[in-house]
Amino acid sequence: MRWGLSSLGGAALALLLQGHLVVSDIPVEPTNLDSLKQAGKAIAAPMWDFYLANQTEGIPGKLTDTWYLAGAMYMTLIQYWQTSGDNQYNSVVSHDMMFQAGRNYDYFDSNYSQWLGNDDQMFFGLAAITASETGFPEISNKPTWTSLARAVATMQYNRWDNRTCNGGISWQIHPWQAGYTLRNSISNGGLFQLCARLGRFTNNQTYYNWAERIWDWSYESPLIQTDVDPWFIADSTSGDNNCIDSGDMQWSYNYGVYLAGTAYMYNGTGDAKWLNRTEQILRRLSTHFFPAAYGGNVFSEVSCEKLHTCDRNMLNFKGWSSMWMAMAAQLAPDTRERITPKLQGSAVAIGKQCDGETENLCGSRWYQETWDGIQGLEVQMAALGGIVSNLMLMTSARAQTIDTNPNAKEQFLDTYSDDTPDSLPHISTGDRVGSWILTVLWGGGIVAAAWWLIKQQ
Ligand SMILES: *[C@@H]1O[C@H](CO)[C@@H](O)[C@H](O)[C@H]1NC(C)=O
Ligand SMILES: *[C@@H]1O[C@H](CO)[C@@H](O)[C@H](O)[C@H]1NC(C)=O
Ligand SMILES: *[C@@H]1O[C@H](CO)[C@@H](O)[C@H](O)[C@H]1NC(C)=O
Ligand SMILES: *[C@@H]1O[C@H](CO)[C@@H](O)[C@H](O)[C@H]1NC(C)=O
Repeated sequence: MRWGLSSLGGAALALLLQGHLVVSDIPVEPTNLDSLKQAGKAIAAPMWDFYLANQTEGIPGKLTDTWYLAGAMYMTLIQYWQTSGDNQYNSVVSHDMMFQAGRNYDYFDSNYSQWLGNDDQMFFGLAAITASETGFPEISNKPTWTSLARAVATMQYNRWDNRTCNGGISWQIHPWQAGYTLRNSISNGGLFQLCARLGRFTNNQTYYNWAERIWDWSYESPLIQTDVDPWFIADSTSGDNNCIDSGDMQWSYNYGVYLAGTAYMYNGTGDAKWLNRTEQILRRLSTHFFPAAYGGNVFSEVSCEKLHTCDRNMLNFKGWSSMWMAMAAQLAPDTRERITPKLQGSAVAIGKQCDGETENLCGSRWYQETWDGIQGLEVQMAALGGIVSNLMLMTSARAQTIDTNPNAKEQFLDTYSDDTPDSLPHISTGDRVGSWILTVLWGGGIVAAAWWLIKQQ
């Protein structure tokens, strides 16, 4: 857009730049499919540029200082493709997502396995089951996406740890990692959702059984607190202390990840108890993270957004949680009426926030009328997730099963192995999900958490 400068008249151009090119909102009409598609396209483009620019190690799908975020991005882009029909990213997504499955097709390649957490691997598992459910094309002579999702689930439930806390999986996988004894919601909730989706997709009872087991454990642990109204989902609980206490920071993705899981269980099994659980989780998610101060229908990651203290992980949470809310609306239609205004209000807000520079850069505070200056893959992905969640409400595309997508049949590879090297490896903290905040929390203890929460008021 800079090309016209010399050939156009100065004043008119300045006006043009001011009014349209430099700071123009993306107009979003959330009940208009074309408007949503255009918004998705406008927001995905800069995200993709960040993705390509960040593959600095020359390895397909390996981003600088992070691994799992690429998996989360594939998950988002595949859902975007299913609901918009925009397939321009499919071939690279397909290639890079298969490449990162690694040598054993389990998203646990020994390049990374020394420092991965369960949640990191889990995001790739969710991307893979999303591919199966959306009918994302399979790659010939490679395992099906369902097989990859299955490998992740199997490996993770084999890490079920009864040594303390009567079960659960820990955040980190290896004893040398900080956070090894911590049981957190995103890891357990993520595996719960993955098993629920595998159960519904394959109709194999083994996965449903695991989903039940993980739910029951979460419910009995301090992670899901049902004696509080509305139900409260803590971030983590300490295995060192036999899971009697909890780190109570409030993050939307902990609610979202369990929410979608319960909706899949309801849709797959038809058991009303799962509908009740979906509704209970939705109650706090749809109020606490949609503050009345912003009109009650704009999503906000309230524990960090206002002070701009969200790290690169937290910047994403709203996008994933929006899509998980849309899944609940689709699979447990009784919740649809409550969810729709939340997602629609957020979509309009996203359109205003994504007016950064000339590139449709999105910021982090959707409630703010103009760009808040934060930029990158993460905020772009969050905004795209918010738009995609509305596309999910507006299209008739639904999560398929093996009955309608028989190409995605699981194969039993069993080539995976839990890749635990003998010596203590170098750990790059920047690579792990949410690592610093948990270190801060558990290092400083509950006092720090209370201080943080007060500071947010
Ligand atoms: C593992 O690392 C090697 C050496 O850098 C690289 O060639 C290979 O592509 C990597 N594999 C994956 C799955 O990242
Ligand atoms: C169900 O899934 C489990 C775990 O992947 C597997 O061991 C079992 O063979 C599957 N059952 C059928 C009938 O495919
Ligand atoms: C399951 O989801 C489908 C849409 O995917 C929906 O039409 C159906 O009503 C849902 N089933 C239940 C029991 O709500
Ligand atoms: C890489 O990603 C980060 C975080 O999204 C972003 O801030 C940065 O600008 C990107 N780098 C390039 C070269 O695009």
